[in-house]
Amino acid sequence: MIKTKLVGFERELPPLSVTNDDLAKLVDTSDEWISSRTGIKSRHISTNQNTSDLCISAAKKLIEGAGWAAESVDMIIVGTVTPDYSTPSTACMVQEALGCVNAVCFDISAACSGFIYSLSVVDKFIKCGSVRRAVVLGAETLSKITDWTDRSTCVLFADGAGGVLAEASDEGGGILYEDIHSDGSKGSALVAGFRQNENPYFRGGYGRGRFIEMNGRDIFTFATRKVPESIKMTLEKTGVGAEEIKYFVLHQANVRINEIIAKRLRVPEERFYSNIENTGNTSGGSIPIVLAEMNEKGLLKKGDKIILSGFGGGLTWGTMLVEL
Ligand code: ACO
Repeated sequence: MIKTKLVGFERELPPLSVTNDDLAKLVDTSDEWISSRTGIKSRHISTNQNTSDLCISAAKKLIEGAGWAAESVDMIIVGTVTPDYSTPSTACMVQEALGCVNAVCFDISAACSGFIYSLSVVDKFIKCGSVRRAVVLGAETLSKITDWTDRSTCVLFADGAGGVLAEASDEGGGILYEDIHSDGSKGSALVAGFRQNENPYFRGGYGRGRFIEMNGRDIFTFATRKVPESIKMTLEKTGVGAEEIKYFVLHQANVRINEIIAKRLRVPEERFYSNIENTGNTSGGSIPIVLAEMNEKGLLKKGDKIILSGFGGGLTWGTMLVEL
């Protein structure tokens, strides 16, 4: 049976790093409040790059690093809720910039689960035999949908892109199992990017959520309940013990969420790799950004089993068991 192997990991962060003290000059907050509540000390914020720019840089590094010919890429998917445009998709912009003329390209909107959803879709295309090589990216410029006068959200969110190369393989390993879900009934807990209809006939009201609006406590409760459930289900269904998992790579929303999840799974926190301290919450970008950082440090080794788990707006959540 064809397996989907992850064979490359890269990231691209905007150069500007904004500290908590920098933000305390914009809104009434402090380094102590932000770091004790979220674990964030600094985050990267774009000064001139849009989501497509970050994606193009990450994808270029991926393809060149693996020595893939641009024409050999069959599919490009970007998980993002902050594309440059509604159309063309960010994935089509990456295709154009890199000359991946044979790739089928589209974006997926699943907020902080966007990368997991994107990888899930690519996995199906690979397993049914119609794609052999894919570039899967998660990327955001959340700074453009953040209300920079709202201290309850502007301290959390950040910009960045990460990506992986997914390739068909006849060997064992690869993506072994996934558990993905959505619950639209709770979608109002996190809204962003509303666009008012300005046509001359429109008589409907104004919607909320041009900038990110979040019920932080509801999201906290959702994440600390659903993510451990999803990880436990994944391990149960595959018969893999938590002790066999080298690393748990979770969406980086908040260090406290991941600490609680680790406790609920009775797994030492050291196996939950975290980089939120210096990257903030990059939504769809966070999981591939973490993977790229881990790869740079030599932490991702062939044969290791890892858990990937995303959760966020929609609401959406999903877990994957991957053998590298
Ligand atoms: N600096 C200082 N004070 C602040 C700040 C700030 N940046 N933001 C809020 N406060 C104040 C509030 O005004 C409030 O003051 P009050 O008691 O006088 O009214 C007080 O701090 C407590 O506010 P809460 O919102 O209740 O703070 P809470 O302890 O719940 O922490 C947080 C907020 C960190 C967002 C928390 O709810 C959380 O971690 N939620 C998880 C959601 C999350 O991480 N979302 C990320 C995006 S979604 C995702 O990625 C899945």
